[in-house]
Amino acid sequence: MAATTTVFSGIQPTGQLHLGNYIGAIRQWLGSQDECFNILCVVDLHAITVYQDPDELRRVCREAVGILLASGLDPDKCLIYIQSHVPAHSELAWLLNCVTPVGWLQRMTQYKEKSQTQDSVSTGLLDYPVLQAADILLFDTDLVPTGEDQRAHIELTRDIAGRFNMLYGDTFKLPKPVIPKIGAKIMGLDDPTSKMSKSIIKERPHHGIGVLDDPKKILKSFKRAVTDSGSDIEFSDDPEKAGVNNLLTVYQALTGKSQEDVLANFADARGYGDLKGGVAEAVIEILEPMQTRYREMMADGSYVDDVLHTSAAKARELCKDRLADAREKLGFLADRTS
Ligand code: TYM
Repeated sequence: MAATTTVFSGIQPTGQLHLGNYIGAIRQWLGSQDECFNILCVVDLHAITVYQDPDELRRVCREAVGILLASGLDPDKCLIYIQSHVPAHSELAWLLNCVTPVGWLQRMTQYKEKSQTQDSVSTGLLDYPVLQAADILLFDTDLVPTGEDQRAHIELTRDIAGRFNMLYGDTFKLPKPVIPKIGAKIMGLDDPTSKMSKSIIKERPHHGIGVLDDPKKILKSFKRAVTDSGSDIEFSDDPEKAGVNNLLTVYQALTGKSQEDVLANFADARGYGDLKGGVAEAVIEILEPMQTRYREMMADGSYVDDVLHTSAAKARELCKDRLADAREKLGFLADRTS
């Protein structure tokens, strides 16, 4: 990959980051930070499309940044910043709103699903993917590494960019999604038919693994994981085997082993209890050192804030030309001072 490849991705501060976020997204960002320029954004403007307690939002934002840094993302190689610190995100979202047919947004599956869980649906929730498109398009992004659930948003980003380019002339680069082959959709431990998600973990802690969960909780959540009434440890598309398949996928994603080696590893397992214990152990082995780094980093009161301050200043500088270009293409009169 060329040294100038720009990678952009985002994560919502709506609860503690979990194992699905780690496997589906953070691991990919770690993998690309040496060859690409990673821009990683904690998307607080997206978070408020559904109500967030303000103190909790502040706390979770800092926690998310701390976790990204503790996971090994290097602020000398990547930009890690808070979305609302770079006002260009909101401004470009408005410009893109004006070229996005509302039908495109109403058709988005995530919108349809999420709006059903809300008493009152905000305009922001419908508009969510346009803000995401703005995030990505501001930086001439080449690649957007995410889990499977974001594929439709990235396709829509390409459609919005294409429409803007068609109406006003070539302005935005069309980004490509990068979805991992293994672990793109980690399922809930207590319900392997639904995706592991921050909002469900808040209600049902054993639904998933928070990356800051202590080893005892991790083991307990795995021991309680829903499997099936059989005893075969195998990768399978059969919905009946979704629980076992999910456990094997977590193990495979974290160890980097082939399916054959994963199965060989559990060949002597005496039932699902051993499988669950083995997967829990692999998860703890990855998360424990990260948790130690997290605690050390957070003990230094100003480290996270310093990283955020420096990264946001760089991000503001980096995206200003693309925003100015879009404004000009739209026909805005330039301000003498800008
Ligand atoms: P969010 O916060 O829901 O998730 C962050 C990243 O984690 C991935 N992910 C998963 N991967 C595998 N299994 C799971 N169970 C799982 N749950 C989440 C997501 O696919 C994502 O990569 N809309 C985005 C945030 C966003 C963004 C962007 C992403 C805003 N602007 C621009 C990319 C580019 C979201 O809600 O992610």
